[in-house]
Amino acid sequence: MSGQIAINETGGVMSLLIDRPDKKNALTDALYGALSDAMERAETDAAIRAVVIRGAGDAFCAGNDIADFLTLADRKDEAQVFRFLRLLGTFSKPLLAGVQGRAVGIGTTMLLHCDHVVLAEDAQLSTPFVSLGLVPEAASSLLLPRLIGQPRSFAMLAMGAVMPAGEAREAGLANAVVPREALEDTVMQAAQRIAALPPGAVQQTKALMRDSEAIAQVMEAEIEVFAARLKSGEAREAFTAFLEKRAPDFSAF
Ligand code: COA
Repeated sequence: MSGQIAINETGGVMSLLIDRPDKKNALTDALYGALSDAMERAETDAAIRAVVIRGAGDAFCAGNDIADFLTLADRKDEAQVFRFLRLLGTFSKPLLAGVQGRAVGIGTTMLLHCDHVVLAEDAQLSTPFVSLGLVPEAASSLLLPRLIGQPRSFAMLAMGAVMPAGEAREAGLANAVVPREALEDTVMQAAQRIAALPPGAVQQTKALMRDSEAIAQVMEAEIEVFAARLKSGEAREAFTAFLEKRAPDFSAF
């Protein structure tokens, strides 16, 4: 099953559910495309006042689909992942996330673009880019050190450290940690509160709070390095090892 994005719109809130639980909601090109289509629509539809991202099953999102990473390196057209990243950077409406279980790679870095994040008690955030032979994306190389400092960012972005929910809230990555069964209601109630606010003032406040020029600049620099790293022998070894369910061997590099 390749999964889908289940879209629901009520009371000015667009809810996007990544629905590929058998693969821990790993994002394929098609899923990035569906997320991007929905976000573009939300951006232009005045009736949509807030967007919530959630994941189905026991994990929020296991990051980019690793089999897709292997084909991404050879693509000539624009991969949807880069479209999604750029949309995250420019999205003008309030973005929320409700996160349970593992949030890996873009599953974590997309949270840096969210205006309100609710974590379930079992949430675990990680960004193991380097162990995949890659580099950070989504302007996380700028946003994470600004938020939590260089040492903790290096532990996450380079060394793959996993940050549990409580620590993530203390670090300023989330608004609240709630029991798993309260996650959906808590994040949807926050979205409804935001949707009831005057939308122009909300969007201008968000814009004033974001260093959008710096975000765009860093994101483009990251995309350039990331796209080159996808073609590297290190990355290919890491992807192949994951798919073959074995430990990677970087001794040849
Ligand atoms: N790409 C492709 N498939 C993935 C995936 C990904 N990013 N993450 C998980 N899956 C698949 C697994 O291969 C497995 O497939 P299978 O049932 O056909 O064997 C299935 O999803 C379940 O994953 P599994 O590893 O058995 O679950 P787990 O609970 O033991 O571990 C994770 C969950 C998320 C910690 C682990 O799957 C993982 O580390 N995934 C890779 C994360 C990653 O590196 N993403 C890229 C970041 S840039």
